Amino acid sequence: MSKTSLRINSDRLHGRLAELAAIGATPAGGVTRLALSDEDKTARHLLIAWLTELDLAPRYDDLGNIWAVRHGAADLDPVLMGSHLDSVVQGGRYDGALGVLAALEVLATLQEADIETTRPIGLVNWTNEEGVRFEPAMTSAGAVAGEFTADWVLDRRDRDGIRFGDELQRLGFAGSASDRPHPGRYLELHIEQGPVLEALGRPVGVVDGIVGITWSEVVIEGQPDHAGPSPMHLRRDALMAAAQLMLEIEQIAVRRDPTAVATVGRIAVEANVINTIPGRVTFSVDFRHQSPDILEAQIEQLHEAAANVGVHRSVDTDINRFWTSAPTAFDPGVLAAIKAATDLLDIPAHHQWSGAGHDAKYIADICPSGMIFVRSQGGLSHCEAEYSTPEDIEAGANVLLQAALALAESPDV
Ligand code: HGY
Ligand code: MN
Ligand code: MN
Repeated sequence: MSKTSLRINSDRLHGRLAELAAIGATPAGGVTRLALSDEDKTARHLLIAWLTELDLAPRYDDLGNIWAVRHGAADLDPVLMGSHLDSVVQGGRYDGALGVLAALEVLATLQEADIETTRPIGLVNWTNEEGVRFEPAMTSAGAVAGEFTADWVLDRRDRDGIRFGDELQRLGFAGSASDRPHPGRYLELHIEQGPVLEALGRPVGVVDGIVGITWSEVVIEGQPDHAGPSPMHLRRDALMAAAQLMLEIEQIAVRRDPTAVATVGRIAVEANVINTIPGRVTFSVDFRHQSPDILEAQIEQLHEAAANVGVHRSVDTDINRFWTSAPTAFDPGVLAAIKAATDLLDIPAHHQWSGAGHDAKYIADICPSGMIFVRSQGGLSHCEAEYSTPEDIEAGANVLLQAALALAESPDV
């Protein structure tokens, strides 16, 4: 069979997606499979079992990244296809999982057809892409790319104070730095998680890059007090101040341009009881934009807004900006291979930027990388309603197969 006529086995891919979605399943059809949780451990062992069935020798490194590579005729760094098995809380069953299982399906298809490639082709599952339990996001791909030290990642703690490195040990996935993957080329298939492809009626997107992201944590200190005897004009209510600042944060994005986004996703209120005026509020701020200058302008406006609220409500405000991921454009050669694959398969594709972060952002710093999107129904993601049709998933996985083969046969792309 010629390489260009190869196609993935859609039923097998969907069977595995369903089997994986049962791990950490939530009542309304989603998943909660937080990084280095017991659910993540179960999913990891399932992936290893599937790779072993394919006679591939899975390995894992000092961050718990799991990877496996088929033999190639040339001793070159592999074309790695990957994504992540961890999810957000009450997330969808496709975010990350689709990229890992589509890569597995590509390897299964190549094994079955006994295809020899010049560059080896392989798969990787990156630990803690979501950055929900252990902030920030994409830490383990980031460590492999040299953005973070392993020690810094291993010392991250979740909100219960549990340490990343200790969980890695507990799960039995604390490997060695000498076992890190060395991608020569990188491809990531992912759901779009936005409304663009559906609006255009396209099943697949060619992802030109990922927008910039910056995460901050705001702490507002007021005065805890009794909810009854305290006159309104004497209060230093940290939650009312936070509410005012949050509406300002929304305006920082809204008044900028339609591509600017701002999200307050996480909040903690102290004392968080019905008859006490909150004395302290801690909340997250997520800004995203394709322009680094606009990202910086949003942070400046956040500081201005916080200072104004502080004076107006006599509260103290502190802003800790703890993560910034610069806007990243993907490699033209890899994008050309993806586009050629959509043409070969006669799939109408659309070029677009990703508003979501992905491990490919950091891997693009160390090797030519690119991404493929699959249409999201209703543009929804990070919720249990996340859905992509079997037909769109099959189209995306075949584009991944053909793009990986093309990259494996043109070692100098
Ligand atoms: O935050 C993100 O965009 C990704 O889902 N980690
Ligand atoms: Mn993802
Ligand atoms: Mn996600």
